[in-house]
Amino acid sequence: MAREMHLVGYCCASPTWHHNGSWRHFESDGADALKPERYETIGRILEQGKFDGMFLVDVLMLNSSHGGSFVPNLREPGQTWLLDPMQLLAAIARVTTHLGLAATMSTSFYHSFHIARAFSTLDHISGGRAGWNCVTSTSDLEAQNFGMDRLMDKNVRYDFADEVLEACHALWRSWEPGALILDREKGVYADPSKVHYVNYQGKYVKTRGPLNTPRSPQESPVIMQAGSSERGRQFAARWAEVIFTLHADKKNMQDFYSDIKARVEAAGRSPHHCAILPAVDIVIGETEAIAREKADYLNSFVSAELGVAEISNAVNIDLSGHPLDKPLGELEVTQGARGMLDIILQGSEGKTLRDAGYAWGVSQMTPQLIGTPKMIADYMQEYFEANACDGFIVCPSLSPSAYTQFVTGVVPELQRRGIYRKDYTGRTFRDHLRSGT
Ligand SMILES: Cc1cc2nc3c(=O)[nH]c(=O)nc-3n(C[C@H](O)[C@H](O)[C@H](O)COP(=O)(O)O)c2cc1C
Repeated sequence: MAREMHLVGYCCASPTWHHNGSWRHFESDGADALKPERYETIGRILEQGKFDGMFLVDVLMLNSSHGGSFVPNLREPGQTWLLDPMQLLAAIARVTTHLGLAATMSTSFYHSFHIARAFSTLDHISGGRAGWNCVTSTSDLEAQNFGMDRLMDKNVRYDFADEVLEACHALWRSWEPGALILDREKGVYADPSKVHYVNYQGKYVKTRGPLNTPRSPQESPVIMQAGSSERGRQFAARWAEVIFTLHADKKNMQDFYSDIKARVEAAGRSPHHCAILPAVDIVIGETEAIAREKADYLNSFVSAELGVAEISNAVNIDLSGHPLDKPLGELEVTQGARGMLDIILQGSEGKTLRDAGYAWGVSQMTPQLIGTPKMIADYMQEYFEANACDGFIVCPSLSPSAYTQFVTGVVPELQRRGIYRKDYTGRTFRDHLRSGT
């Protein structure tokens, strides 16, 4: 079978996604962000486009890193608030049949038992379509919502996360296949010899088990991850089946791709079982000129000031004391999301904080593809065939219309070229990711 591209849809359960002014556009579904129908509609659109899955972002605080206040993030809503992704995915599972359903959950704050049980339940509800975007979190403000003063140091967070993953996998395996007998005639419900205590004890994490949820269709959710630091990459090599990334150019992506694939192999796993998916924002038009006009109109809603406040949150540093005209090269950083900051600083020569705020407000530093369906398919094919990626995280600049246009315009173009599935061949999220690799 020829190698085929993998697509995962990006979604935030908030008024805006990447584009911080999109909620003001007349086509935006941002005003419906509290309604489950919004997410069900997106799930249906993505399934029509045979996407491998969709994933919901999560951050565990009301953004307030900028000047110690959430005011800038409420006056103009960026990803200000977020609904709980797991509960939304349960709703989407009921209106879709094949689409993978992934949620972000932090290893730093949720207990392994809770995580294992939540994803096992989602996997049951969805018939084997659960995915976990496994993050270690980046803000002290999140830690303060969970009884800590600050985050653990970055390397400790990843050591901790390794133990959480070990404990979760032990819990997911605590029910052997065939443990449920369900023999009504003999009155035998389950075979207790097939259910086991876990007694996991690491340096940080301890759980007795067994899980109080029977083994789920996939056994474990698809593990997704987006770390880009050295320690983040080590973690990804060991666990990740999908890696999200953000890179400005093809050479950077190719370097990242070959580095991760080599690390996955060195960890004793098949490099085909780890899909590397960079994020792209899309604006689609019938002609290039129409697409550019659409992007310009949409970008007229961007707030550079809100963008800077959002960067404060994203990198866990308060930038409110810096003038907007400060050159980016003069920003110094200690803790926080180093990977994210590196991306913000890529190509920063001659740029100011205001420029960065505007760029962040447009697409959160995600490359923006503006053009006809054919132009977007050309870009995707070029990067895919150059081994810069295995597919993409598709982020609509405007929801849901950019998704609809992607599914009706770009997907058929990719299918015609023989680099994207015409239909699902398997049932589970993991089946989709492993087909055409
Ligand atoms: C496409 C993408 C999606 C991400 N989604 C989340 C998220 O939902 N929640 C979160 O806390 N971090 C999220 N992150 C941040 C990563 O988990 C990670 O902390 C960041 O990329 C920095 O990498 P590092 O931890 O190796 O420094 C995301 C990153 C990327 C590139």
